[in-house]
Amino acid sequence: MSIHISAKKGEIAKVVLQPGDPLRAKYIAENFLEGAKLVSQTRGIFYYTGLYKGKEITVGASGMGFPSIGIYSFELFTEYEVDTIIRIGTCGAYTTDLKVFDLLNVEYAASESTYAKYAWGIDDEILSHQGNIFHTINETAQEMSLTTKATNIHSSDIFYRKDPAIPAIATKNNCPAVEMEAFGLFANAQHLGKNAATILTVSDIIPTHENISADQREKALKPMIELALEAGIR
Ligand code: ADE
Repeated sequence: MSIHISAKKGEIAKVVLQPGDPLRAKYIAENFLEGAKLVSQTRGIFYYTGLYKGKEITVGASGMGFPSIGIYSFELFTEYEVDTIIRIGTCGAYTTDLKVFDLLNVEYAASESTYAKYAWGIDDEILSHQGNIFHTINETAQEMSLTTKATNIHSSDIFYRKDPAIPAIATKNNCPAVEMEAFGLFANAQHLGKNAATILTVSDIIPTHENISADQREKALKPMIELALEAGIR
């Protein structure tokens, strides 16, 4: 057990898929894993371990934002000897160059957040994916005939804001999309020498307000889930 995860040692696989939403973790476990066992549900943040194509994998939620993914990814890496975390989430596009359903494999996450600085003394405002898993995802996507875009993204602390303009950090770092967790995950993985990647499905186009409807979501996220599972068992 760790402070926020009640699984026993050995009940979490070396590779963890991390959606933001606990119910998405449940959905993945129930629909894609064999013999999935619920190993933690502290605070309603579900973790399941099961088999995908005969290989053990865990799927569990990060919650929203840096404080939350910071806690869960740190405890997974340090208390459960997890080697690799693949975040799977959604993002908003700042530009109509991206379309809803586009799949992004995050190369760098830029943030105004002080998380990396105050947690680990990492002063950079832009952090890379960590280890080889980013490349494994690209290769796996090619083999699956899935198109992914290697992209920088803005990891923001803010969902609602007064000023509709694209934040300066996103423009400066060439980030066409925004989410709220990758920077925190990459910071922890960089500090601990672990592997971390983030795959995102574009769920909304901010300037046009187009978005994936609630009933489209399950189908929309399937390619991302299958890509993460396939890359995770390589
Ligand atoms: N995740 C999905 N859409 C988002 C948005 N518009 N801003 C931040 N995170 C998001």
